[in-house]
Amino acid sequence: MGAYDLLKPALFRLPPETAHGLTHRLMRTAQATPVTDLLRDRFVVDDPRLRVEAFQNEFPNPVGVAAGFDKNAEIPRALAALGFGHVEVGGVTAERQPGNPRPRLFRLREDEALINRMGFNNEGADRVGKRLDREPLPEVPVGINIGKSKSTPLADAADDYQYTYERVAEAGDYFVVNVSSPNTPGLRELQDRAALEEILDALATAGADPLLVKLSPDLPEPAVEDALGVVDDLGLDGVIATNTTTTRPNSLQSAQQAERGGLSGKPIASMATERVRFVAERTDVPVIGVGGVSDAKSAYEKIRAGASVVQLYTALVYEGPALAREINEGVLDLLERDGFDSVQDAVGADL
Ligand code: FNR
Repeated sequence: MGAYDLLKPALFRLPPETAHGLTHRLMRTAQATPVTDLLRDRFVVDDPRLRVEAFQNEFPNPVGVAAGFDKNAEIPRALAALGFGHVEVGGVTAERQPGNPRPRLFRLREDEALINRMGFNNEGADRVGKRLDREPLPEVPVGINIGKSKSTPLADAADDYQYTYERVAEAGDYFVVNVSSPNTPGLRELQDRAALEEILDALATAGADPLLVKLSPDLPEPAVEDALGVVDDLGLDGVIATNTTTTRPNSLQSAQQAERGGLSGKPIASMATERVRFVAERTDVPVIGVGGVSDAKSAYEKIRAGASVVQLYTALVYEGPALAREINEGVLDLLERDGFDSVQDAVGADL
């Protein structure tokens, strides 16, 4: 029994956002102390077979933290010390925003899922950019997820994304245009070809490199193909599939499924994997696979479906701090079972 088995019942008695705030503060405190070294010794799996090279980055292992967990870039070193091979911070917006009224984060316990309608609560590009410039960064790649300020009209979105990019430009190892969160009105319309082209072109011209786009699992397949056309035309570096879904699979058990917002966690695993496959079959750029990764098997499925690396958020809530280690160790076993020399060899094996 791990420490998290003791802590989890207490955390789960708190409202989800309170529990998140508490663990976040704990990690922020730990990060400033030698505890980080202890965590690293305990959780980092250092094995050359886990290394992946993609979009000009070297990932020490394929398991990263998805956007939303560390919105203000306060704990990337603590997350790296838990064994994650990259950390995507944000979503950051040009303006500082409170997000939607609480409650806005819900546990679907029976489903090992979450629904959130946070609405890009974050300290804004000026503050987050300064923090990133001031504080030491981890050795693993740090991605920066950029969203649109709520008050900025869709027509001015490109300027808004560019403003944020310019404030975080120095710190990022990759940059993500997030046009797929369901909780900012109209945001997902920016996945349309013309709008997407304008935003991505503005960021590429401003120097964002490597530049990736994160897509919704709810985007119809022809629209995904359009978006991939933009990725090709502009020579972008990668695609993240996927964000949360506003659909509600029939399999859901929890009463909380009636809440508005984006669903994440186990129930979206296969939907997200199919999106990874769809994208990987149609583009040569690397894909980051995200959605319902909760163990080695579900991580490995996304890798075989074409993901160069994977990310997770929801499973960290349900499984606790040993999760990256468990997945990395389990992936090594699966590679051995299937006769692959490395993760890199297994990427897209099922395509
Ligand atoms: C998210 N996610 C998210 N994604 C993004 O691109 N920008 C963001 O700011 C956020 N914020 C956010 C907050 C909360 C509370 C959750 C649960 C999720 C989506 C996240 O990065 C990921 O794409 C999905 O959660 C699917 O992965 P999991 O959670 O099933 O592993």
